[in-house]
Amino acid sequence: MKKVAFLGGGKVGQAMVKHLQETKLAEVVYIYDPFQKAEELLGVKILREIGEKDFEGLDLVVECATASVLKENAAKVLRHADFLPFSMTAFREDEVLESAKKAAEESGHTLYLPHGAILGLDGVFDGKRIINEVSIETIKNPKSLGRDDKEYTVVFDGTAREAAGLYPRNVNVHAALSLAGIGFDRTHSRIISDPSVNTNEHVIHVKGDGIDWTIHVTAFAAGAVSGKYVPYSACGSLDRILGGGNMQFV
Ligand SMILES: NC(=O)c1ccc[n+]([C@@H]2O[C@H](COP(=O)([O-])OP(=O)(O)OC[C@H]3O[C@@H](n4cnc5c(N)ncnc54)[C@H](O)[C@@H]3O)[C@@H](O)[C@H]2O)c1
Repeated sequence: MKKVAFLGGGKVGQAMVKHLQETKLAEVVYIYDPFQKAEELLGVKILREIGEKDFEGLDLVVECATASVLKENAAKVLRHADFLPFSMTAFREDEVLESAKKAAEESGHTLYLPHGAILGLDGVFDGKRIINEVSIETIKNPKSLGRDDKEYTVVFDGTAREAAGLYPRNVNVHAALSLAGIGFDRTHSRIISDPSVNTNEHVIHVKGDGIDWTIHVTAFAAGAVSGKYVPYSACGSLDRILGGGNMQFV
C-alpha cells in the first residue's frame, strides 16, 4: 500500500485523510501539525517537528497548512517523494518553484498542482502557448479576508504576484492560475471584500489566439478560508494521483 503524509491537519487535510481511510487507497503515516493538541488526529500520529528524514520512504506528501510550510518543505519533500501542495501563493517566489522543480527533476518525483477551489487549470495549462491575457477577480466576505469592511470594497487591483504576497491565505487560486497560464506578473488580480456575500466567488477571463473563455465559480464559504467545494476537489486530485476509481477525466 502507498504511504502518504500530511503537512497540516485542518479542514482540507482532514477531508483528505478521511477519504484515504475510507477508500483504502493509501496508508496515512503521519500528520505534521504543531498546533494539534492531541497525540493523534483521526487515528493518525501527529508530529510536532519535522525534518527531511521524515520524508524518506513515503510515496506522496500533501501540504495543506500555510505558504511558509510549503516554502520550507517543497524541495526537501521532492528529493524523496511526490508532492501535492495547496498553499500555492508560496510559488510567487520564483526560487521556491525553481528549487522544487530541480529537486523533482533530479529525483524523478512529481510536483502535482491541484485545481483546488477553481476549475479548468488543466485546460489553461494546455492552451498556455496561445493565451495572451488572463485576469481573475475574487469576491469574499470581509471575514474570510481578515477585514471588517462594512460595504463593497476593492481591496486589491494589480499583479497576481503582489496579490499572493499580500493575501497568502486567500488567493491560492490566483497563484495556481498564474502557474498554469502566463505567469505571476502577467496575470491580473482583483480582490473584492463584500459583506453581503457568504460565498467565495472567482471570475476568470482568459483570452488568446482564437480563444475567449470565462470561468465563473461560486462556493458557499461561511467566513472560512476554504469553501464548500475544496474538500471534494482535493479528494479528486488525490484519486487521480493514487489511481483511485476506474474512470478519469484527463
Ligand atoms: N489551492 C487552493 O485552491 C486552496 C483552496 C483552499 C485552501 N487552500 C489552502 O490550503 C491550506 C489549508 O486550508 P484549510 O482550509 O485546511 O485551512 P485550516 O486553517 O483549516 O488548516 C490549516 C492547518 O494547518 C496547520 N498549521 C498551521 N501552521 C502550521 C505549521 N507551521 N506547520 C504545520 N501545520 C500548520 C493548522 O494548525 C491547521 O490545522 C491553506 O493554506 C489554504 O489557504 C488552497
